[in-house]
Amino acid sequence: DAPKAWSGRFSEPVSDLVKRYTASVYFDQRMAAQDIRGSLAHARMLARQGIIGAQDLADIESGLAQIAGEIERGEFAWSLDDEDVHLNIEKRLTALVGDAGKRLHTGRSRNDQVATDIRLWLRDAIDQILELIGQFQHNLLDVAEAHADTALPGFTHLQVAQPVTFGHHLMAYHEMLRRDAERFVDCRRRTNRLPLGSAALAGTSFPIDRESVAHELGFDEVCYNSLDAVSDRDFAIEFCAASALLMTHLSRLSEELIVWMSPRVGFIDLADRFCTGSSIMPQKKNPDVPELVRGKTGRTNGNLIALLTLMKGQPLAYNKDNQEDKEPLFDTADTVIDTLRIYADMVTGIRVKADAMKSALTQGFATATDLADYLVKKGLPFRDAHEAVALAVRAAELKGCDLPECTLDELRIAMAHVPGAVERLGEDVFSVLTVEGSLASRKHIGGTAPEQVRRAIAAARARLQG
Ligand code: ARG
Repeated sequence: DAPKAWSGRFSEPVSDLVKRYTASVYFDQRMAAQDIRGSLAHARMLARQGIIGAQDLADIESGLAQIAGEIERGEFAWSLDDEDVHLNIEKRLTALVGDAGKRLHTGRSRNDQVATDIRLWLRDAIDQILELIGQFQHNLLDVAEAHADTALPGFTHLQVAQPVTFGHHLMAYHEMLRRDAERFVDCRRRTNRLPLGSAALAGTSFPIDRESVAHELGFDEVCYNSLDAVSDRDFAIEFCAASALLMTHLSRLSEELIVWMSPRVGFIDLADRFCTGSSIMPQKKNPDVPELVRGKTGRTNGNLIALLTLMKGQPLAYNKDNQEDKEPLFDTADTVIDTLRIYADMVTGIRVKADAMKSALTQGFATATDLADYLVKKGLPFRDAHEAVALAVRAAELKGCDLPECTLDELRIAMAHVPGAVERLGEDVFSVLTVEGSLASRKHIGGTAPEQVRRAIAAARARLQG
């Protein structure tokens, strides 16, 4: 074994178990490109400031270019002996270019190095996620537009409540995704600040220029306290929180797809490419993908708790605990990215069974509120109208039919006990008891009327393009 970077201080080597336990190279090597980018910016700054020579910089640049190529081609020999991505690359650099490689770490620590790498990596992941949310929203709008008039029951307490349109229902998720995107944009702002230059914890005695490094790496600004910069991971926690919320929204949508697809409900069918069959029951077509989205939400919620717990007991500044930040972070980003890619495609594969939705609306007195509103518009106080309609619903239930199937006389008899109700009930009541009438009347901003849903879709399209 080659000596460790710190071997001078130590009198015995670690065991293989400890070596494996403390190493992170098998998961942090996916930050290799970011590590090299950060090192190049650092080296160029060192040269500009006269801290290393021009030849050193040239050697570092050519060595790192070669290493980048080796990693890309899968030829790089990653070694547990060198613990993490940073030491693996530095060691190879020194093997390639000698003393210049050994000078690269001047005025730098792995503590500010790793914090910089994570931020660079996460910034790219956030950009990818924002792109994918946009793609998903775009596809969702197409489906919502196709079903701006398709009626289905809206539910509260999983009981038929009032008619809504399927387009309106999908637009609810569009709104959630919009807020999710806002959260990622916001988290990106705090992620995009440069820790490098903080060194181990206290800064460095070399005359560094942090702002030029921030500029070269595309950071908006530098982190302003060295202790905070090397030990803080709240940007990663924010990312996991935004991700857990996004996944929670998708988990709710998944739950709905699963219920809607259940043969008992039969509102939709999902394209075969998102389902699997049963190895024993020939009739089965199972909504595996939405079920897995629902299941993987447990993973992203768990990752958020893992990072919060990782942080809560740490004194300033860097502690090795922080090495445990990466796996939950990577896993969250991977899960969110895969889920969004699948979902964007899956929504376009929803086949709507409008007849089943419509017929569900004839069970459950979905227009009862419309009947109450009708009486109120004729001057009856709302509480009295509510009572009158409750009596009408009871009568209809006894008769075994829905409200529009009752005769005017039946409705009047049912409401007879409520003073002022009977004389306000006319033939025109039947127009408000239809699903179409109910939908069309809710035409204010945020309402389910098809014309309003179309307006919401148009506004969302304009926002997505702008
Ligand atoms: N692999 C380490 C991590 O992920 C890099 C920083 C190590 N620093 C240290 N002082 N041991 O956090």
